[in-house]
Amino acid sequence: MSIDRSAVLKWLQANVPKARIQHILRVETYAQELAAQHALDVDKSAQAALLHDLAKYFKPEKLLSIAQAEGISIDLVLAANPRLLHAEVGAIVARDQFQVEDPEILDGIRNHTLGQPQMSPLSCVIFLADSLEPGRGDQAELKQLRKVCASNLYQGVWLTCDFTMSRLIQNRKLIHPRMIMTRNWALQADSSVKQRKEIKTSAPRGKTARTIGG
Ligand SMILES: [Fe+2]
Ligand SMILES: [Fe+2]
Repeated sequence: MSIDRSAVLKWLQANVPKARIQHILRVETYAQELAAQHALDVDKSAQAALLHDLAKYFKPEKLLSIAQAEGISIDLVLAANPRLLHAEVGAIVARDQFQVEDPEILDGIRNHTLGQPQMSPLSCVIFLADSLEPGRGDQAELKQLRKVCASNLYQGVWLTCDFTMSRLIQNRKLIHPRMIMTRNWALQADSSVKQRKEIKTSAPRGKTARTIGG
């Protein structure tokens, strides 16, 4: 069941500043573009994108109390920076306010800030669209990241983690360990896809790819 887009927009207008709604709409457009480029479900990607920042402007106390009521464990980084919880809490709001049940959409919302090892391609799309939508700027590094994402989601994810983490280091901000785990997972997923492609292209003619991937 698809969400009622106009109902979500109405809710956003009452709960989120105008500039953030513009960001959300750009994430929606970019997520649709990425989903189409990677043969993923465009409609589901658009829904997850539209819902991804529902809890962005909840106060830290509200984020903490909703997360705790849901049994989400609050580690040291989340306790120091509860705003990171807006992704997890956003998925709870999507479920309770808009009756979203699709686990792929809920995970896309949940994973949009820190990612998650083994996340689905749709989650990768929302993670990337949020970090790289055109409103984030047009510096050379961002342009290059967008180029990579058009052809390789996993490479896009680990490079985007590197980009985000280097900015956090420069600004002496905390890094949540889940982002490092996401980066390591995506790096390995990317290299195993590449290895499979190399084996495939170097396989002798007439042989099947039965051994590919082990
Ligand atoms: Fe967000
Ligand atoms: Fe966002």
